[in-house]
Amino acid sequence: MKKIGVYTSGGDAPGMNAAIRAVVRTAITSGIEIIGIIEGYTGMMSGEMEPLQLSSVANCLQRGGTILKTGRAPDFVKPEIRAQAAAKVKEAGIEGLVAIGGDGSFRGAHALWEEHRIPVVGVPGTIDNDIFGTDSTIGYDTAVNTALDALDRIRDTAASHNRLFIVEVMGRDSGFIAVDVGVAGGAEEVFIPENLVSIDRAIQHIQRGLARGKTSSILVAAEGQSPGRAYDLADQIRRKSGFEAKVCVLGHIQRGGSPTARDRILASKLGFAAVRALQAGQTDVMVGEVGGKLVTVPLLDCITKKKHVPNDLIELAQLLSH
Ligand code: F6P
Repeated sequence: MKKIGVYTSGGDAPGMNAAIRAVVRTAITSGIEIIGIIEGYTGMMSGEMEPLQLSSVANCLQRGGTILKTGRAPDFVKPEIRAQAAAKVKEAGIEGLVAIGGDGSFRGAHALWEEHRIPVVGVPGTIDNDIFGTDSTIGYDTAVNTALDALDRIRDTAASHNRLFIVEVMGRDSGFIAVDVGVAGGAEEVFIPENLVSIDRAIQHIQRGLARGKTSSILVAAEGQSPGRAYDLADQIRRKSGFEAKVCVLGHIQRGGSPTARDRILASKLGFAAVRALQAGQTDVMVGEVGGKLVTVPLLDCITKKKHVPNDLIELAQLLSH
C-alpha cells in the first residue's frame, strides 16, 4: 500500500486530532503517503483533499475538534453520491481509507468497501461511547469529565439555594455519559434512553432525600432524540409534585475542549492500529480496545449490534443516591 486517506466524520470528539496524528505519523514512517480528506464525506464527494506531512499534525494533540473538519453528509446514504465519492478516492490514487467517527461514518465506510472495493478501517470517535466492539470511544472520557465538572459546579449553587436541578447531558441513543456522570456526581436520578424512569419514581427519590434532611437534588437526563427534554421533565415534575426544578442543558460544551490523557492515549493507539491493519490487508473492520487489548471487529457488527450501558452501573447510581 503506497497511499492512504484519512477523514473525520459525524460529530467531532476530543481526541480526534490525536488519532489523525497517529495515522499520519505511522503511515509516513512506514513509507506510505497520506492524504487528508476535508470535512468527511462532503470533501470526499467534492474531492477536497490535501497531502499531509509529519509537520501537518504538529501541535494538534492537545486540541479539541478536528483539524480535518467534519460533517454529517446526509446525502451519503445515496448510492450515486457514494459512487461519485469513490471515483474521487480512486482518482487521487488512494488505496485505503481510515474513517474516524461513529456508526453513521462506519455505515458509509462499509458501503465504500461493499460497493467499490475500497479498503477501509474504522476508528471509533464519538463522545457517546455507543459503538459495539470497543470498551471506549475517543472523546467519551473527555466528555464525561467536562459534564462532571459542570455538575459539581451546579451542586455548589444547588446546595446554597436548596434547589432542585435537572442537568441534561448529550447522548442521542445512549446513556453512557448520563450514567457515568450520575454515579461520579451523586445524582438522585438518571434518565437515559435505554432505561425508562418514571416521573413518579424521580419524585419519590426527591421526597426520600428531603425526608432525611437533604436540601438540594440533582437529576441527570440524557438528551435522547429531543435535546431540551429536561425542560419537559421539569414541567412534568412541577405539575405532579409542585417541585420547581432549574434546568441546565450542557449541550455542545461537552464536545469541545482539550482531550484527557486517556483519550489521547486511546486515540494514538487506535490511529496506529488502523494503519497497521490496512498494511496487513485487513478491510471492513474497526480497530478497538477491549480489556486493554487492541482488537479488530467487522464494521458490520459495529453498525448492527448495540453496546449496552451496564445494568450494574445504573443500579449503583440508584443505590448510592439513597
Ligand atoms: O456526536 C454525538 C452527538 O454529540 C450526540 O450526543 C448528540 O445527540 C449529537 O451528536 C448532536 O449532533 P449535532 O452536533 O449534529 O447537533
